[in-house]
Amino acid sequence: MKIGVYPGTFDPITLGHADIIARAAKLVDRLVIGVTTNASKSPMFSDEERIAMVMREVSGLGENIEVVGFRSLLVDFARQQSASVLVRGLRSSIDFEYEYQMTGMNAQMAPDVETIFLMSDVALQPISSSLVKEIAKFGGDISKFVSASVKDDVLGKV
Ligand code: COA
Repeated sequence: MKIGVYPGTFDPITLGHADIIARAAKLVDRLVIGVTTNASKSPMFSDEERIAMVMREVSGLGENIEVVGFRSLLVDFARQQSASVLVRGLRSSIDFEYEYQMTGMNAQMAPDVETIFLMSDVALQPISSSLVKEIAKFGGDISKFVSASVKDDVLGKV
């Protein structure tokens, strides 16, 4: 059985993340969405809120998707889940530099775990969770970037 992990902070989960999740779920037998907190971020939503939000958002995306929170090295989480694949979305060359470094270090720590990249859908490429929060704070419309339920969640926090 091929198990993949798609990790992220998901603060909040966007339509861009959902697109990667739906596509990645078709490539593996089981896709575990690993919800964590990037050490350099101060999330708007708590761990529990983000896990619940991601669970709700992926409920219609595939039977083989599971959502699990973690607070450890990604490679340790992947091993704990018996995953052989890490999935990341690539939006631009800016993502590439960051992902290149993480992939290289993860590969040295866990050579048995392969990272694969899915190019974001062209229409969803500019979306970032930070910009979604910033737009909402200034009263802008975020409906093109997140689902209606996530929009309500974000508006409840700003
Ligand atoms: N569509 C829309 N947005 C996307 C996207 C897509 N397809 N793919 C990524 N993003 C955005 C996110 O919204 C986020 O935007 P933001 O920075 O404005 O919040 C950004 O790209 C990256 O977020 P995400 O993909 O959620 O990753 P992350 O940087 O928050 O988290 C981890 C990276 C969790 C994988 C990394 O921190 C990690 O592995 N942590 C565990 C500890 C560890 O092992 N560290 C050593 C690593 S070598």
